Amino acid sequence: MQTADRLKKIPPYLFVELRKKINKAKAEGIDVISLAIGDPVEPTPDSIIDELCLRARDPGNHRYPTDEEKGMLAFRQEVARWYDVRFEVALDPASEILGLIGSKEGCHHFILGCINPGDIVLMTDPGYPAYRASILMAGGEPYNVPILAGNRYLPILEDIPTDVAKKARGMFLNYPNNPTGACATREFFDRLTDFARQFDIAVCYDNPYGEILFDGQERLSFLMAEGAKEVGVELNSLSKLFNMTGWRIGMAVGNPDIIAAMSKVKENTDSGIFNPIQYAGIHALKKEPQNIDNMLQIYGRRRKMVIETLSRIGMNFDPPKGTFYLWVPVPRGMTSIEFTNLLFDKAAIVVAAGTAYGQYGEGYIRISLTVTDNRLREAMERFEKALA
Ligand SMILES: Cc1ncc(COP(=O)(O)O)c(C=O)c1O
Repeated sequence: MQTADRLKKIPPYLFVELRKKINKAKAEGIDVISLAIGDPVEPTPDSIIDELCLRARDPGNHRYPTDEEKGMLAFRQEVARWYDVRFEVALDPASEILGLIGSKEGCHHFILGCINPGDIVLMTDPGYPAYRASILMAGGEPYNVPILAGNRYLPILEDIPTDVAKKARGMFLNYPNNPTGACATREFFDRLTDFARQFDIAVCYDNPYGEILFDGQERLSFLMAEGAKEVGVELNSLSKLFNMTGWRIGMAVGNPDIIAAMSKVKENTDSGIFNPIQYAGIHALKKEPQNIDNMLQIYGRRRKMVIETLSRIGMNFDPPKGTFYLWVPVPRGMTSIEFTNLLFDKAAIVVAAGTAYGQYGEGYIRISLTVTDNRLREAMERFEKALA
């Protein structure tokens, strides 16, 4: 059977490979603790589930969710209210908001809507693997922009060669950053907006961790920057904020031309989000912001536990202040993969190797805080023993 050449360029999806490894070890009776995947273990709040059940009982919601291709107007209105309250960003629900089946699909729709085959698309390295896959599937050329500890994991836009910037038509960024945990700044947004305007680059700012912040870090949306809406869109999601990763609901907000392009892709790809999930999403945004505060307490506690363990065994580092990941430098003299294998072999702990996110991820592992406190405690005890 012929399969498309474009797929050959895409490496196997990181977590599919990891899951295989974990399942194999489990089948051998090993008690594996995975700190590799960012998927909250706490359930979705009850009231959101109740809203889904209630709406699912209405036969009117069993049909195609065609209230509007861009998502139900009521959902988009609620997203507009959320952006107003959380970020003081004004959005027009009619033209500046698109409901999504998660921000991951938004990446894909952004590329298909904005990029022609052969166009360069800038992405950070390390970076979320779905960006590269989206670019390659659309025939674009990914260009890696390093993000390094020395510049607090922000790209140095002036270092991007001018001939590359001139050919670039799109850029993916994500802060609070997966995998590094780094946060952006208002000054950086201004520079990014100027850069995008100068070279006519559509920015896709992916913000699903926008509220997972510690130590007083400021909550930011790219759209807070003057002129940002002229150059880009922001993707956001209910996945991480409301423990709804499996529900598949998110949104793209910002530049109306990009939203219209993404919407055209979307209406020709799927038929929108199941109405009861959109109602549940409205309910989450309206009634459950407390869940974010609750989760921040939990992640903060776990973050402290990991940082203290690592510090006890001499693995000191300056942790950035966002996301529920810790981006940890591996012991001197080891590669990311060697250290990942050591943790697996000696402690049955799975972490993500930094190189899974790009060449500049070498020398790091990513630890996710989305397991229960007890499992994390157990993992940290094993971690400490393995390195004793
Ligand atoms: C940077 C980044 N973008 C997007 C996603 C996907 O989120 P969603 O569940 O909204 O598709 C993830 C999930 O891990 C992520 O880390």
